[in-house]
Amino acid sequence: MSSKDSKDKPWGGRFDEPTDAFVEAFTASVGFDQRLYYFDIEGSKAHARMLDKVGVITADECKHIIEGLDDILGDIERNDFAWSVSLEDVHMNIEARLTERIGEAGKKLHTGRSRNDQVATDIRLYLRGEIDFIVSELKRLQTGLLEVAEREAATIMPGFTHLQVAQPITFGHHMLAWYEMLVRDVARLVDCRKRVNVMPLGSAALAGTSYPLDREYTAQLLEFDSVSNNSLDAVSDRDFVIEFCAAGALIMTHLSRFSEELVLWASAQFDFIELPDRFCTGSSIMPQKKNPDVPELVRGKSGRANGNLIALLTLMKGQPLAYNKDNQEDKEPLFDTVDTLKGSLRAFADMMPHVQVKRENSLRAAKQGFSTATDLADYLVGKGVAFRDAHEVVGKAVRYGVENGKDLSDMSLTELQQFSSAITEDVFEVLTLEGSAASRDLLGGTAPQQVRMQIERARKQIS
Ligand code: ARG
Repeated sequence: MSSKDSKDKPWGGRFDEPTDAFVEAFTASVGFDQRLYYFDIEGSKAHARMLDKVGVITADECKHIIEGLDDILGDIERNDFAWSVSLEDVHMNIEARLTERIGEAGKKLHTGRSRNDQVATDIRLYLRGEIDFIVSELKRLQTGLLEVAEREAATIMPGFTHLQVAQPITFGHHMLAWYEMLVRDVARLVDCRKRVNVMPLGSAALAGTSYPLDREYTAQLLEFDSVSNNSLDAVSDRDFVIEFCAAGALIMTHLSRFSEELVLWASAQFDFIELPDRFCTGSSIMPQKKNPDVPELVRGKSGRANGNLIALLTLMKGQPLAYNKDNQEDKEPLFDTVDTLKGSLRAFADMMPHVQVKRENSLRAAKQGFSTATDLADYLVGKGVAFRDAHEVVGKAVRYGVENGKDLSDMSLTELQQFSSAITEDVFEVLTLEGSAASRDLLGGTAPQQVRMQIERARKQIS
């Protein structure tokens, strides 16, 4: 990047000495806001068309501006554009180049506009597209989860509370729990997008402008749903960035929770799943290792998303109206959250459908913690035993199981009858893990039949 004298800067008129070289670099944002170039050019083209429509520039000037901006877009995309730090940001770089290329008409583009409403518009255009992409990635992951859920609708695994075996559940049901978290994530982003898609352009520096701008027309060209109602608010508002980053932090929190379970399940101690080799790495010293790097890294990256949210909340909290240079600090956290989400979601959406479930192992694990104890108690209640007495009976049976290394479902009828004479042959219908899971056959329950119904409903929901 090159640097030049502050006399050449678009705002250089009232300055007597050049900007301090360090200050120039310190205050510049072009190093990161050049990411907005496409939206900056789209916004400028729409602004020029509107200036033409209301008669502030001529049709000929408008044509030159648009052609010039399209040429610049081509240069940037061919990597043939020299970004200059002394031109501070993406906006002034593009505008200065436009004037270099097309002369006088280029100087008229900024009529009735300020970088303050310009940058707010650019970020909104950028974020709108990123939200749409992230929503589509969330749905791709949801589709993958439904695939696993369908394959494993009847697969038994232990359900945990306190990470202690609690009751048998189906693996499909567990996948659907993850699916539901993502339903809320999609809804939050879709809702956030409504507040993103409002156009600040026309607010100018802070107070609006005396030119007869047709803001509705510009908004229509840029496909904004509406225009902002208060110029002071519009140039300084970054609520939409915070909202997005809050939704993003929650998405990363969900992915981090999924990751934690995948890491546990892939360990030798659980051994419920096999992650595809192509999503894992080995160790340079321990030849036997296959490490679940992708979920580990995603779990780690959730820290960034939280950090970005806190950075943005803190950035805004002390700002008086209207625009302050502080706002330039909104971009890096936002971009980082966008990148973190896109990377993490891509990895998860690619990986999830290929996770292999080791059914015998998850079944064996469910047998280890007396997971059908509640079922046995409920069975006794059904036979007329009071719940407190039933609890006591089952407690004794569990103690016997611990001493003899047997799960309840492994005990014979005679063994079980030592604890209560109310127990008869039909006990095995509830005592087996499959029987226990199948009996939770109500809306939202873990029974395979319910899981299949939920998958069908979910497929319609995301289509
Ligand atoms: N680079 C600035 C930003 O990111 C653009 C707006 C600057 N406006 C100003 N009056 N200095 O916020």
